[in-house]
Amino acid sequence: MDYRNILTRKAGGIGWIIVNRPDKLNALNIETVLELRSGFMGYVADPEVRVIILTGAGEKAFIAGADIGEFVGMDEAKAEEYARRGQDLTALIENSRKPVIAAINGYALGGGTEFALACHIRVASENAKMGQPEVKLGLIPGFGGTQRLARLVGKGKAMELILSGRTIDSKEACDIGLVNRVVPLAELAGTCEKLANEITANAPLALQYSIQAINRGLDQTLEDGLRTEAGLFGKSFLSEDSQEGTKAFLEKRKANFKGK
Ligand code: COA
Repeated sequence: MDYRNILTRKAGGIGWIIVNRPDKLNALNIETVLELRSGFMGYVADPEVRVIILTGAGEKAFIAGADIGEFVGMDEAKAEEYARRGQDLTALIENSRKPVIAAINGYALGGGTEFALACHIRVASENAKMGQPEVKLGLIPGFGGTQRLARLVGKGKAMELILSGRTIDSKEACDIGLVNRVVPLAELAGTCEKLANEITANAPLALQYSIQAINRGLDQTLEDGLRTEAGLFGKSFLSEDSQEGTKAFLEKRKANFKGK
């Protein structure tokens, strides 16, 4: 499919989605949000893609937030609809049955941090800068930042970042658990591909159930979360891949998973 604001590229089981508005530091206008949605849904449905990597074009920005130009003249109803549209997409990413890695290659501000938060794993380059600066515009985060940031880094750090609107560097982001690891910019794509390859070696249904168990469990009590886990553990035994995985281990060979 032809897109105006994103690039897509797939190879070796990895589907890359690259926000491509480098002259606007990859800020998300509505058209880009719609294209991202289409790109993600396409890769989730594509049997050749096992892991998705989200990044930004150029060497300066992952996503510098929502396109502030589109806020001009927005009324309450339009703004709420705008937030819901972004939230739908971040929820689609978070609940994707295929793992999504954020390769944070520069500024990830506002919506940029929020899209990174929706991904399952975050790897940042040394030059990355993250934050929720919405209060500086008289706004609050609207693509899930108030909810996912607190769940990931804890209420105290989320309050500090959102109330101050402060931008933090990748080292601090890593120290507070906002990103999983930091690498030099030149190594970012390779590091994410290596991680994706580790993941694609595993059984696709087991990846899907793991994501479901972690995501659902976080919104449940420990007791209910453990019940969720046991149910999905049981379900994983229905898969052909679980038979293949255990058989391959006992036969001391590499498993040949089919995603069934
Ligand atoms: N929305 C719309 N345009 C944006 C943007 C955004 N979120 N972020 C950057 N841009 C545009 C700038 O307007 C500029 O466009 P222009 O060349 O047509 O004037 C271009 O991207 C380059 O940005 P610039 O500000 O010149 O780069 P910089 O290196 O001086 O500063 C930032 C980089 C990220 C610090 C700065 O662009 C910024 O603060 N952006 C807004 C971040 C934000 O508040 N995001 C949350 C929105 S809710």
